[in-house]
Amino acid sequence: MNFFQLVAPFYDAFMKLVGHSKTLKKAVRETEIKEDDVICDIGAGTGQLLDFLPEDNELILVDASEKMLKKAEKRVRGRKARLVQAQVQKLPLDDDCCDIVFCLDALHHFTRTGAALAEMNRIAKESGQVIILEFYPSNIKTKVMKRLEELAGEPGCFYSPDKLADFFYKYGRNTKIVDLSSWQYLLIASHKE
Ligand SMILES: C[S@@+](CC[C@H](N)C(=O)[O-])C[C@H]1O[C@@H](n2cnc3c(N)ncnc32)[C@H](O)[C@@H]1O
Repeated sequence: MNFFQLVAPFYDAFMKLVGHSKTLKKAVRETEIKEDDVICDIGAGTGQLLDFLPEDNELILVDASEKMLKKAEKRVRGRKARLVQAQVQKLPLDDDCCDIVFCLDALHHFTRTGAALAEMNRIAKESGQVIILEFYPSNIKTKVMKRLEELAGEPGCFYSPDKLADFFYKYGRNTKIVDLSSWQYLLIASHKE
């Protein structure tokens, strides 16, 4: 069985222990969100990001795991939100349908990273942003996490910000890198001026 199908019942409690909400809060603080922005969260999991987003934006939460999305149902109640169970490499979403595409603590879980990034770029409007939270591959904590995730059968594809910036440059987007800690960074890709 898929790793996240198994961990879904414990995911929120575990992430609370490791202080994940602080990281999500920092990521949102770095993001300029307008009232009418359509926001997509790729690899949304249990929807923890929603705790830090404005209440009224239209939201699309995408995840491959049915059990993780089931947990997200409680968080989306009363909001303009759609839950989509899909693989990031083939999103059932229109071109240019989102203003902000988040992918937080999820990219290294994807196989075929190039295809995943191409899809995120495709659904983001030209004027929009793709925002990725990832971990510096050379950091010792990332190395330990990579080993543990690989033991659990996960891909553990950790990319440096430069490598991700190269992908987005090809798509005509500039990138800004924000250090969230010595371990984690945020990459913000927006259209070239
Ligand atoms: C570590 S969780 C992160 C969840 C959330 N972004 C957060 O910060 O709490 C990674 C998520 O990516 C999802 N995922 C893994 N591979 C995927 C794929 N190919 N397509 C869509 N989602 C995927 C998993 O099901 C899991 O919910």
